[in-house]
Amino acid sequence: MNEHYDNENVAAERILIAVDGPAASGKGTIARALASHFKLPHMDTGMLYRAVALNLWRWGGDPSSEFEALRGCDVAAVDPADAELRSEAVSSIASRISAYPSVRAALLDRQRQFAGQPGGAVLDGRDIGTVVAPEADAKLFVTAAAEVRAQRRVRELLERGLPAHYEDVLTDIRARDERDTNRQISPLAQAHDADLLDTSGLDIDQAIAEAIRLVERRLAARLSTQQT
Ligand code: C5P
Repeated sequence: MNEHYDNENVAAERILIAVDGPAASGKGTIARALASHFKLPHMDTGMLYRAVALNLWRWGGDPSSEFEALRGCDVAAVDPADAELRSEAVSSIASRISAYPSVRAALLDRQRQFAGQPGGAVLDGRDIGTVVAPEADAKLFVTAAAEVRAQRRVRELLERGLPAHYEDVLTDIRARDERDTNRQISPLAQAHDADLLDTSGLDIDQAIAEAIRLVERRLAARLSTQQT
């Protein structure tokens, strides 16, 4: 098998990379680094669910109503730079409304179109490798212990000058894991053909290096299958 993946040789090929994992696992940073390494466009699909949540929150809509959540799905007008998208209130609403089948269906086309670009793309989320782009060439399931993820989130919030209490953040992360993993539709799950990347004991540079190695190994395997 040709183990060596040559970036130059396959630069003209289409490369689709799916990165899934729970909140604060590092998947967003890893997906951005992969996009930059392989020179691909990147979509953070969590932002779509956050945009729906922000719409709903701004109108004072009820997150426990699927009908009202669906009305928030016109996300084109939401400014991606809006700091409120990352707030804890919006994160929590996003996790709740993402369980509604009609909301997921309304956001699916946009994600599939992005994934279908001629040169390929990197998408990160919860169901990219299983539902949005099961045909992806490389799939990573990025995870870390809930306690490690909570510590990272606390550090991130404090760096942004926001209040953060470790126990509250850990409780919130566990609640989101529970909702994302146990919902009926498109639950958070590792695709059968995804590589597991546990970042618990890794710093961000090590995690990125390992992610690139895993993706290159998959691409090399694809190349050798095509050549035989
Ligand atoms: O990744 P992020 O934490 O920004 O996602 C916000 C919420 O959107 C998550 O808690 C999850 O419930 C939901 N989500 C999803 N499917 C995706 C991406 C995000 O259900 N592909």
